[in-house]
Amino acid sequence: MSELLRVEGLNVVYRTRGGSLPAVRDVSLTLRRGEILGLVGESGSGKSTVLTALMRMLPRSTRVAAERVDFAGTDLFSLGDDSMRRLRGRRIGLIPQRPMTSLSPVTTVRKQLALLSGGVIDDACAHRLLGEVGLGGLSDRLGDYPFQFSGGQLQRMLMAIAVLAHEPDLVLADEPTTTLDVTVQAQILRLLLDLRNRLGNSVIFVSHDLAALSQVCDRVGVMYGGHLVEMAETRDLFTKPQHPYTRALLDALPARRARGERLRAIPGTVSGSHHLSGCPFAPRCDAATHLCAVDTPPPRRVGSSTVRCHHAGAAS
Ligand SMILES: Nc1ncnc2c1ncn2[C@@H]1O[C@H](COP(=O)(O)OP(=O)(O)OP(=O)(O)O)[C@@H](O)[C@H]1O
Ligand code: SF4
Ligand SMILES: [Mg+2]
Repeated sequence: MSELLRVEGLNVVYRTRGGSLPAVRDVSLTLRRGEILGLVGESGSGKSTVLTALMRMLPRSTRVAAERVDFAGTDLFSLGDDSMRRLRGRRIGLIPQRPMTSLSPVTTVRKQLALLSGGVIDDACAHRLLGEVGLGGLSDRLGDYPFQFSGGQLQRMLMAIAVLAHEPDLVLADEPTTTLDVTVQAQILRLLLDLRNRLGNSVIFVSHDLAALSQVCDRVGVMYGGHLVEMAETRDLFTKPQHPYTRALLDALPARRARGERLRAIPGTVSGSHHLSGCPFAPRCDAATHLCAVDTPPPRRVGSSTVRCHHAGAAS
């Protein structure tokens, strides 16, 4: 499979009232054509910020820098605003994290489908797209407003626009299943896979749900405190996690505990980790040493994973 996206050294700093917040720190990743790459990590670890940076939709006051962001041979960060606008939706589609807040409450679904798709969706096309995401029964409700639909229905509508209206090369899916019940979740995952198999697009799929990631992703990246702390083939990540945070995440999965056994939470909180100068996980890590507190671990290869941990791979 050839490479579609290469990100090297991505940094994003938000300006907030409390000062600067380095939300994404030195993140590098690649994505092959037709690949589904998962991103997981605690709330606030920077997952959505990575996607928003790739769409170039961050607030104007935000500082964004990267050594390289190459999308199909185009340097995304040096594209003019007009070219980037043309690329958005057509070649890179975003399925946003919160469907209800991504759609205007005072505009009919018909109008929004048309706007969001860059004017290519007429009623006949909308009926076809809704049918493809299992919403054929709603075709006569295009004149309704977003609040008249369920979260799952809106999520599928946004998916129809992001993936089907232009069949973009890259789909950025920000927690597309989080607000949905398990049966609808399964349908959405199936749909993502079917579309990828049919259209051959690449997907970055952000989710807190490790089970969902394990079902659909080829590789999974783990974020913590703005760093991408581990990246591996899905099977390797789940069977041979190398980073202490990845291990703790997997250990916290209820399915890994015997019935009646106490559920294991990761002690401490992620709060403040973006500002630490050494390893962001150090305050919560059993294996931390003095080096971890003072020196940021660079990414390195351990087994089949790329890991940011000074001590990963040491005999344990
Ligand atoms: N527009 C913004 N202005 C200032 N800070 C922001 C902004 N958006 C996000 N942040 C902060 O940046 C950090 C990363 O946020 P981000 O939304 O990328 O996290 P996330 O991993 O997607 O979390 P979640 O799993 O909760 O969606 C957080 O500390 C968040 O509070
Ligand atoms: S670098 Fe140190 S603190 Fe960070 S995860 Fe590895 S052992 Fe733990
Ligand atoms: Mg998010």
